[in-house]
Amino acid sequence: MASPKVLLLGILLLGGGIGIGNGSAADCPTLSNGDDLPQDQFISQLTDPCRYDKYVRPNTTTPLPINVTMEITHMEATQSQFTSYMTVQFVYLDSNLNYETSSPQRTIILGDESLKAKIWTPNILMRDESGTSVIATSTKDIVVSITKTGLVTYSYKMTVQFNCQMDLKKFPFDYQRCKIAFSDWSNNAANVDLKWTQTPPFYKAADLHFSEYIMDEAEFNLGSDAGPYPGLPVGTFTKLTIEFKFHRDIGYYLLDFFIPSYLLVFTAWVTFWLQADAGPPRATLGASTVVAFITLHLGVSKDIPKVSYVKASDVWFLAVIFFIFLSLAEFAFVNVIWRRKKHIELKKPKPKYVLKSAFMPQKSREDLQRYASTLSLATIGQSNDSLNSTKPLPLQGNYKSVDSLDSANCHTAISIPGSDEQVFTWTKMTPQEVAIYVDRKARIVFPVTFLIFNVLYWVFVYCL
Ligand SMILES: *[C@@H]1O[C@H](CO)[C@@H](O)[C@H](O)[C@H]1NC(C)=O
Ligand SMILES: *[C@@H]1O[C@H](CO)[C@@H](O)[C@H](O)[C@H]1NC(C)=O
Repeated sequence: MASPKVLLLGILLLGGGIGIGNGSAADCPTLSNGDDLPQDQFISQLTDPCRYDKYVRPNTTTPLPINVTMEITHMEATQSQFTSYMTVQFVYLDSNLNYETSSPQRTIILGDESLKAKIWTPNILMRDESGTSVIATSTKDIVVSITKTGLVTYSYKMTVQFNCQMDLKKFPFDYQRCKIAFSDWSNNAANVDLKWTQTPPFYKAADLHFSEYIMDEAEFNLGSDAGPYPGLPVGTFTKLTIEFKFHRDIGYYLLDFFIPSYLLVFTAWVTFWLQADAGPPRATLGASTVVAFITLHLGVSKDIPKVSYVKASDVWFLAVIFFIFLSLAEFAFVNVIWRRKKHIELKKPKPKYVLKSAFMPQKSREDLQRYASTLSLATIGQSNDSLNSTKPLPLQGNYKSVDSLDSANCHTAISIPGSDEQVFTWTKMTPQEVAIYVDRKARIVFPVTFLIFNVLYWVFVYCL
């Protein structure tokens, strides 16, 4: 019962469709007098739905070649998020827009968004390295031009925000590479063939300098992406990639981090020139340089992504804080020695023995006794007497006396009775002398080790 009705409805619809089609074909505006028409009207007639379908790509047997040019005008970066302001240009031949015969006098058709809305244009999708689509907003700055032969030049400005997986191991001396790729997302490789123009496909503002980066160069690659992608037609897509290469402008970090940290290390060393019992100044100096350096480092590191691996800046931070801390620890060590009462006996006034006896004065004394007793039991009393009888040096508050450290009055010769030659010589130092001795050595040892560290660090940074 229902089928004749459906059939009738179908016939009616089909008839109507044919009718409309015929009607519009008949109404198709003629293009013969194209030269007399204003551009707007001519374009409307040229792209009238009766002769131009803007949803169908230009008719070619092979995939439509599209030449792409790109210009980067500006870039911004915050942490690993980049914003790039660019102008993209597509050039392709749309033979359906050829107006050589219909309007021979016209040289070029120029237009903006309204012209773009009337013709077929490629649909570009931007993706970043990880394959996720990026936020690309095309602003209203569109320019379209069509020449006589139907050569369409379609340019627009675009703001692209993309993430870049940065390798910060050498931060702040790092070089980065970031990739963005784009393809036509409504036409797969069978339909559209995106290509970088042969002539330089990329222009950037001269010396493009953004945030703290300097762009070195950009590399262009052609590739293809095999689908399917969610929301995209099946097939492979020609993919254009740009790889930006840039490095950090080190100037800021030199001025705001490295030079101040040098100054802080040098400031921490001032402590070696202060007297060992000058507790308040030396403690204040040490503690305040530690605090100042931590603050300095926080200021520099707050703007970079928190990565879990060790960065070059972390190595620097740890080393410098270690040096500053050691200066503070050296003070504590020296101060403890200074406050000792007992004199220290040591074999030779060499750093090894000074340190040994400074760390273990008791053991050092036992060593002396054992040493002496092995030679002659009789000499112990004598040597002890001679040691004890030596009057302590008038040292307090007097730096100069330290210079007499190696002079003869510091040596206590222990002679074995009945023997002509001196068997061994022990030196006696007051705790103050030891403290000052350690300070004097520190004045050399700290700068030298810091210098060695610096050589290694800068070689690592620039040569590896
Ligand atoms: C497309 O172009 C081919 C020849 O290149 C032609 O045979 C075909 O009719 C054209 N199709 C349309 C829809 O214009
Ligand atoms: C695209 O570029 C190639 C080589 O640079 C050139 O031969 C071709 O004519 C260009 N195509 C268009 C449509 O401009």
